[in-house]
Amino acid sequence: MTAELPVVGAIDELRRYVRARRAAGARVGLVPTMGALHAGHLSLVEAARRAADRVVVTIFVNPAQFGPNEDFARYPRTLAADVEKLARIGADLVFAPPVEEIYPPGFSTKVVMEGPACADLEDRFRPTHFSGVATVVTKLLNQAQADVAVFGEKDYQQLLVIKRLARDLDIATEILGAPTLREPDGLAMSSRNIYLAREERARASELHGALTDAARRIVEGGDIGAATRDARARLAGAGFDVDYLEARCAETLAPVVSLDEGPIRLLAAAKLGATRLIDNIAVRS
Ligand code: PAF
Repeated sequence: MTAELPVVGAIDELRRYVRARRAAGARVGLVPTMGALHAGHLSLVEAARRAADRVVVTIFVNPAQFGPNEDFARYPRTLAADVEKLARIGADLVFAPPVEEIYPPGFSTKVVMEGPACADLEDRFRPTHFSGVATVVTKLLNQAQADVAVFGEKDYQQLLVIKRLARDLDIATEILGAPTLREPDGLAMSSRNIYLAREERARASELHGALTDAARRIVEGGDIGAATRDARARLAGAGFDVDYLEARCAETLAPVVSLDEGPIRLLAAAKLGATRLIDNIAVRS
């Protein structure tokens, strides 16, 4: 606990805090994170602040959403620095539970989804990821009982998964998406950018560049298949190992072949060395 910003680790304390504020007539916003906070996360806190009177930030590196060969063990854990940043921008409470608080002995339940969780994008490469995300987010939303919760558009498939689960499971918390924050060269802010070697970091903005060019071509009437194929080739030429770069319906993530089908999102994931980057942008006509 710091002087300005209380940090709690027990679900009861979180519940007590939210219940008391709501009973006093305040709207409470929730920002779930895994910590290692950067300006992108802080912009989610600011979005929550605009939508609510009090903002609770959760910091929990959720083991259930990492695959066996992923970076759970080395995921950056920077609680003290995170709390300092949150105190500075005026968050009201941090919920940073230990793993046993979220997954006590005997824990046996998983939220397994279809729809946007099975869009053949992230789920193709991380088959257990969205079940881990859906399970922990369902728990955090139930634990906090906030009025509104904010998630970044950076993880666009995740955002649609969370909107869907809240609707399907009758969770009363309103789910809001907030825009991706970018570095000056266009690279989407991410806690994993610190893994990039200096020379990889210099090339990493190609991902956003390739998406932006493909979106422009599509808006100008170019063929969607050709635009995405060329973007994949451009990334491969720049040394990326491309998992996917695809045009999808922005609401359902169904494949699209024409602008007439409604709002389109371009979504991509590609590895640069050992670091996997994801990004997405809206195709705006
Ligand atoms: O986007 C994230 O940081 C995580 O997936 C989330 C939503 C906090 C769940 O662990």
